[in-house]
Amino acid sequence: MAAPKGKMVSFTIDGQQHQVSVGAASDGSTAPVTASTSLADYLRDQCGLRGTKVMCRGGMCGACVVTARVTDPATGQTEVRAVNSCLAPVHNCQGWQIETVQAIGDRKAGYHPAQSRLAQMNGTQCGYCSPGMVMSMYSLLESGEAVTPQSVEQHLDGNLCRCTGYRPILDAFKTFVPEADEKTQQIIKDIEDVAPSGSKAGSCAKKCSVGGGGGGGCVGCPRTARLASDGAEKWSYPTSLAELCAIIKANPADKTLKLVRGNTGTGVYHDAGQPDGYVSLLKVPELSQVTQTASALTLGAAVSLSRVIEEFQKLSSTAGFGHFSDMASHLLLVANTPVRNAGSWAGNLMLKQTHGDFPSDVFLLLAAAGGRLQIADEDAATTEIPVEQLLSEDMARKVIVSVTLPTLDETKYVFKSYKITPRAISAHAYVNAAFVLPLDASFTVVEKPTLLFGGISADFVHAANTEAFLEGRSLTDEQTVQGALAALQAEVVPTPDPAEADPAYRRSLACALLYKVVLRVLGDQVPAPLRSGGEDLTHPVSSGTQQFDTDQTLWPVNKAVPKLEAQAQTSGEAKYTGDEPAEPDELVAVYVQTTIANGQVASVDTSAALAVPGVAGYVSAADIAGVNNICSYGDTVEELFTSGQVLYYGQAVGLIVADTYSAARTAAGLVKITYTDVQPPVLTIKDALKKQGGSATAAPAAKTTTKQGVRQVIGEFSIGGQINMSVRRLGGGYGSKLQHPSRVASAAAVAALTVNKPVRLVLDIRTNMTLLGGRLPYLIQYQAEADETTGKISSLQIKFTADAGAVGYAADDTSLALDTVTNVYEAEGWQTEGTAVLTNTASNTWCRAPGTVQGVSGIECVMDHLAHELGMDPWALRQANFFGPDTKFRKGGNRATDYDVFMQMVTEMFSEADIDARKAEIAQFNQDNRWRKRALSLVPVRWPILLFARYPTIVSIYKDDGTVAVSTGGVEMGQGLNTKVAQVCAKVLGIPLELVSVKPNMNIINPNGDSTGGSVGSDMSSLATKAACEEMNERLAPFKAEGRAWADVVKRAFNLGVNLTAYHYQKPILTPYNIFALAAVELEMDVLTGQYRLNRTDLYEDAGQSLSPAIDIGQCEGAFIMGMGLHMGEENRYDTETGRKLTDSSWNYYVPSSKDIPTDFRVKLIKNNDNPIGIFNSKATGEPPLCTTYAAISALRQAVAEARKDAGHTDWTQLGEWGWQLGEWGWQLGEWGWQLGERGWQLGEWGWQLDAPGTVEKAQTACQLSPEMFVIS
Ligand SMILES: Cc1cc2nc3c(=O)[nH]c(=O)nc-3n(C[C@H](O)[C@H](O)[C@H](O)COP(=O)(O)OP(=O)(O)OC[C@H]3O[C@@H](n4cnc5c(N)ncnc54)[C@H](O)[C@@H]3O)c2cc1C
Ligand code: FES
Ligand code: FES
Repeated sequence: MAAPKGKMVSFTIDGQQHQVSVGAASDGSTAPVTASTSLADYLRDQCGLRGTKVMCRGGMCGACVVTARVTDPATGQTEVRAVNSCLAPVHNCQGWQIETVQAIGDRKAGYHPAQSRLAQMNGTQCGYCSPGMVMSMYSLLESGEAVTPQSVEQHLDGNLCRCTGYRPILDAFKTFVPEADEKTQQIIKDIEDVAPSGSKAGSCAKKCSVGGGGGGGCVGCPRTARLASDGAEKWSYPTSLAELCAIIKANPADKTLKLVRGNTGTGVYHDAGQPDGYVSLLKVPELSQVTQTASALTLGAAVSLSRVIEEFQKLSSTAGFGHFSDMASHLLLVANTPVRNAGSWAGNLMLKQTHGDFPSDVFLLLAAAGGRLQIADEDAATTEIPVEQLLSEDMARKVIVSVTLPTLDETKYVFKSYKITPRAISAHAYVNAAFVLPLDASFTVVEKPTLLFGGISADFVHAANTEAFLEGRSLTDEQTVQGALAALQAEVVPTPDPAEADPAYRRSLACALLYKVVLRVLGDQVPAPLRSGGEDLTHPVSSGTQQFDTDQTLWPVNKAVPKLEAQAQTSGEAKYTGDEPAEPDELVAVYVQTTIANGQVASVDTSAALAVPGVAGYVSAADIAGVNNICSYGDTVEELFTSGQVLYYGQAVGLIVADTYSAARTAAGLVKITYTDVQPPVLTIKDALKKQGGSATAAPAAKTTTKQGVRQVIGEFSIGGQINMSVRRLGGGYGSKLQHPSRVASAAAVAALTVNKPVRLVLDIRTNMTLLGGRLPYLIQYQAEADETTGKISSLQIKFTADAGAVGYAADDTSLALDTVTNVYEAEGWQTEGTAVLTNTASNTWCRAPGTVQGVSGIECVMDHLAHELGMDPWALRQANFFGPDTKFRKGGNRATDYDVFMQMVTEMFSEADIDARKAEIAQFNQDNRWRKRALSLVPVRWPILLFARYPTIVSIYKDDGTVAVSTGGVEMGQGLNTKVAQVCAKVLGIPLELVSVKPNMNIINPNGDSTGGSVGSDMSSLATKAACEEMNERLAPFKAEGRAWADVVKRAFNLGVNLTAYHYQKPILTPYNIFALAAVELEMDVLTGQYRLNRTDLYEDAGQSLSPAIDIGQCEGAFIMGMGLHMGEENRYDTETGRKLTDSSWNYYVPSSKDIPTDFRVKLIKNNDNPIGIFNSKATGEPPLCTTYAAISALRQAVAEARKDAGHTDWTQLGEWGWQLGEWGWQLGEWGWQLGERGWQLGEWGWQLDAPGTVEKAQTACQLSPEMFVIS
């Protein structure tokens, strides 16, 4: 491919030629593209291809994935790869053929099978991730790589989904595996009967405006889109190394020049400023070469990480290259597929060179493998240095050309590397390590070994003292191992970094990894129980089953149907708020946020900001015409822009309005704010309690009970907050939707009024995560007593304290916790209390199962704690406290059948999931393994619900064809509301489902409707629809009685003046009912590292007579994975001095990935069970399954307890920050009278607490490992 001439980049998008060049556009307008414009923005803003989504803009979420065909300058071959369009600069796309989701299939041409199978197999909910999912799968299909269950899962490792729980997505795409079984083939056939596949990009269908049809560009059309770029002249495209060096040489010393391969580095470290020039490395053949000799492999600097993995895999069976197998496996854990497709190993090394603390896996591997770098200077003179030396090399005006990796004699050297991460995939390492051990047959280290570590500190790479210690010693000698561990412990001194794992954990991990490699090397030389410590905890390909009943006489209600919008979502045809086309003269806005958490704004100087070209103005509290309050709940006031008082770091001060985001962002950075009265921030519930003058600690002085035969537990459990990162259609999905959008909408409205132009305000992820709060964190404190023989609870006091954030509009969250704290138990005499505190953090808000999940988790923690205290099986203790047929709950009542339904669920679970036998196997496993532990935890849920909301709904029938349109008071946000409504409508009117469409929620139809939440949206909308349809039936009855077909009935009724529109205002139904759920989670933990996986999960849900079983199954799966994130991984960290939120992007806030889901995930809707209060006997499903997810952390705690038992610790597994120290106050809890004892409280007594989220770090720390335990005999 020739270099572009005259600074023009040319590429194709969906078959249409595009040229971006210097100067004015063909229509004479000014340049719409800049030097740094991303392909994603180009697609969306310049081409109107808004099927491609953006979310994190950092290579983590995959919403922006497109397929690129790129020609390798060294081989001339074209590769097909998925790439993140958010990271690819459009100027770096020279010669690319790009395909987007909108071209591979649509409603006119027919859908691509990846689109139709994902839709028909219920792989979408809100659908925002779906186009990216489709394009990742499409790229795999087009790449020519074998499609296997493994390759499908591997290729989706860069796509996050917040709603579905991944299982249906993986299932849909695994249907492409050629050896599909009979059942799958039938599924494919059924899908293709419903949605025949159409043409795909690559063959021109001549349907666009150029080709003769309508719509946008299509494949093969000759038209060329020409766009101007005011940054094109900054880019160079050398086609040889010599040319590249000449460009570097010609660059003036005072100008910055950026070499660009994949540009994925900006996903990790955002560029501080714009460079003066860019050089694309993609056309330099020398940098893309791969050469192999008998003694080495040489990789050009622009070879992508994906290609490196392929080369390593190919060579790993060749003598001398066996270690490439381990390196390839490790590299598969670096970033994710689209990042590895675009990103180069050399770019990665340069990130490490610039940021010493970057825990680069690539650096570690290449250094351990003895790699030598060839580096060229501006005169094209080449030098060679070991990889490690790069860190101290002055790389100014130089370029990495290649790396040479020598062979390694497998008979002498053992190569092994590790990467320990907070999430299974797509996460950077807590600590990584690579070891090369030269060993003889007696396991003596015959020369100096290589022990490299990352994640420790900016300048720590080699464990030099440990290497020296090991030389000449035998690994079979206990003294050797202990000596090496002591040396390592002494030299590993991790740098504290509040955004990363605790130094103590990182040091412990470094020791554990050294021990792990020793165990691996020694294999069966060590006692059997130790051997599994040498194995890696892997995540096998997952699978799932879904079971439900369906009664055909009720169809289309109770029938498993795909979501109405699914096809539009998977094809990118569904429009979301951010997809609205730009208005003429539209401006954009960017927030100016506070940089302290607690104090007063003294002054705001916007002079420099307003001088930035393109800036239209600054908008602040002074511009608000009315009241500066965005809160519509009670008397709480939350300011839109601060009028002076600063309540948290990141609070809105104002908006910069400009003609481009780039100008607005630059200007926002120039606003100077000064502060007075700066106070230390209050960031946690305990800090807030202390500030209120009460006691912050949960641990009382001592147990207070003196009763005979009764045992007491006192403890606490914390559950952190959680942030919903996805953008939903119509304003949010399973969290943050009720209050937060009004803040953004109001700010845009004030700005638009002020500058008198339309203003678009779309939050980037950092603003989103710092300006807006998430789920309320909770502190749950309890004191409970139970009979030591039966386990029956005789008294319980439990208090829920929630953190409402800066203002308390969601402070009533805890009242919901009190609804579920009694769960499935006879709660006679229990004392429960809920309260909230304010902290200097963004206002928190209701998020899927608000309060109710903490209610269940709180009481289930008490159950576990009591079981531990009594030495009882945790399930047996729960059983001893189950409610009975006559129990009356505070909320939820108790229908006569409730007890039977619940007990049926329990019985089926025990028999179908083989609980007792598996528990016995697990006990044996734990006895046989010191460093691997398993646990099985069961958590029941009773979720009381009241159909509280008021929803107006309108049903209109069209006279010409009998089609029906419905608009309800509920909002579709992925939960399948529209589909359920359509099913109900079709059922009641007695017409085919295909005749019904559900229109958007409109305020003229739904003027005073309640918010969609509390799991009642679908039900209340369906009830209202049912009533409206019944009214319609009454009107149509005479015509139906004439025996006419539906279309005739409608026509005749219309001709005779019948009103074909019915409206129903659905009032709340004040009789509550109970929903039951039960989860059994089996977890396995690697004790040495703390990593764990869910081996199996069985989730049973009582959906009554499910309105739409496939959708309800999806709700269960999605809710479970979301709850798993809450309990296991999603952790917010703050800078305790400034109050800044440190977990402010997808780089450091970990929602579950597709590899975190249970390996075996079985979901069942228990046999159709009636519910006269619900619509068509159904029950709601949105939130109850989320409440079962305490089972995951409960299993983790059991696994930790098993590990602790082996280490001689039998106390209750607690690990809170307070577990370490003697509290200065002891504690007291208001009227319950838990008072400070004479002794204060101490570690031994309260043991260790495992708070949620139960991260890998916390799990390992709770095992209280110490090097003395790392024995080999
Ligand atoms: C979401 C995400 C997750 C990630 N996770 C991990 C992880 O778990 N472990 C890990 O190790 N890495 C991780 N990375 C880093 C990733 O591997 C690098 O971003 C990638 O390898 C950089 O390659 P690139 O070609 O895109 O470099 P670019 O972004 O193009 O360049 C990066 C820097 O290197 C310079 N540069 C590039 N090539 C050369 C050259 N030949 N000579 C001199 N300078 C050069 C550039 O000028 C720039 O300064 C992650 C990245 C992302 C976005
Ligand atoms: S928007 Fe590109 S990966 Fe998230
Ligand atoms: S369906 Fe995947 S993010 Fe909503």
